[in-house]
Amino acid sequence: MTKVLVVDDMPDMAKLLANTVEGQGYEALVASNGREALDITTTQCPDVILLDIMMPGMDGLEVLRRLKTDARTRAIPVILVTAKDLSQDIIAGLDAGAHDYVSKPFESAVLAARLRSAVRAKRAHDTIERLNGELRAELIQRERMEMELAQAQKLEAIGQLAAGIAHEINTPSQYIADNTRFLKEAFDGFNKLLGTFGRLLEASKNMAVTDDLLREVEAAVRRADVDYLIEEIPKAIQQSLEGMDRVVTIVRAMREFSHPGSEQKQATDLNRAIQNTLTVSRNEWKYVADVVTDFDPNLPLVWCLPSDFNRVILNLVVNAAQAIADVVGDSSQRKGTITVRTDSEGDWAKIRIEDTGTGIPEEIRSKVFDHFFTTKDVGKGTGQGLTIAQSIVVEKHGGTITFETEVGKGTAFLIRLPIADPTGPEQGGPLEEAELACGCV
Ligand SMILES: Nc1ncnc2c1ncn2[C@@H]1O[C@H](COP(=O)(O)OP(=O)(O)OP(=O)(O)O)[C@@H](O)[C@H]1O
Ligand SMILES: [Mg+2]
Repeated sequence: MTKVLVVDDMPDMAKLLANTVEGQGYEALVASNGREALDITTTQCPDVILLDIMMPGMDGLEVLRRLKTDARTRAIPVILVTAKDLSQDIIAGLDAGAHDYVSKPFESAVLAARLRSAVRAKRAHDTIERLNGELRAELIQRERMEMELAQAQKLEAIGQLAAGIAHEINTPSQYIADNTRFLKEAFDGFNKLLGTFGRLLEASKNMAVTDDLLREVEAAVRRADVDYLIEEIPKAIQQSLEGMDRVVTIVRAMREFSHPGSEQKQATDLNRAIQNTLTVSRNEWKYVADVVTDFDPNLPLVWCLPSDFNRVILNLVVNAAQAIADVVGDSSQRKGTITVRTDSEGDWAKIRIEDTGTGIPEEIRSKVFDHFFTTKDVGKGTGQGLTIAQSIVVEKHGGTITFETEVGKGTAFLIRLPIADPTGPEQGGPLEEAELACGCV
């Protein structure tokens, strides 16, 4: 039931007002002073307040000001009930947020009409509040769904890369295995040779070296192909060590790429993050492109979400590789180039990913960041890569992502990220140069 609070220090007036309220089918609550009015308002939440201005103690205008500064009571329409000649009070009251006013003495019918209007305003406000609440809930739900979608895309990216990574690990693993088998056979050969030399040593000690034994030793040396082994064994060891290093690098890059649990921004070595992403995605580009990196060794640590940053780079590198594949076809004879550069300018870190691919035709340039916009066949692209990249760079980091392109020549995507978190503590500093040398991947 609609509740109307009547506030008046004169009992007769309060009664008259309450009668009018009840005459409209509303419930009347009555307060005889300002303090009581505030108490009843917070405990009983009336829909409308009829408020006398002139009261001893806290006057109506003060009550009104307090109601309007409290978020719980701000929306309740207040009708001031005031003596006719106090027009400056009416002006002050309306300026302070009163919904309406009624002059004393009043006509019941007029008061009732104004009351109904205030109740309608309150209902409209309540409806808007409810809709706002629903909209907010919907927004939260949508944000959650977008997060889940992003999470699914992240898993999909890792799943997509998994086959390539397995392949990348398999190649060195295979030659490590081949080399180890070769070393085993070489060791067996040396072992036999050592046995023959052992017998020669024994015979020498006993002064019993025969021509037969010497011939046997010569044959064993020939069989073992010692010159060949002495040349090849160090190479096999070296190659195996390099293979192991490669496997270790890939596994470390994989671990750092997915950054489990890093949902917080942290000071990040972007050069290293990019290098890791290029390592885990190698199988996506190596058949069509060479990757050249030109990293600024003095790039400060950048305050960002590392796994999100990695996804941006991955999406851009995969796009670059696909655009190059459209130019060079499947032939591994003619490769394009993906160039990744980093540097800084003032408070900004800049990453440029340049390809020698198709370029982006004029007519689709304004659409490439749109959700689900793709020019690729089903199974090759879903049109989410750049949307996600843009939302990560712009919304999550306050950065920018733009591109320059020329059809037939290629495209360069440029990302700018604020080095320091605008809301966080100061951080950053030059990186250790040793790890960040420029070069080919
Ligand atoms: N480096 C590039 N060179 C040429 N065209 C590009 C390049 N990057 C993006 N595009 C164009 O922009 C479109 C949208 O790219 P986006 O990464 O958002 O989606 P996608 O690559 O098609 O699919 P997904 O990334 O979801 O696998 C691409 O389909 C392509 O037409
Ligand atoms: Mg893409």
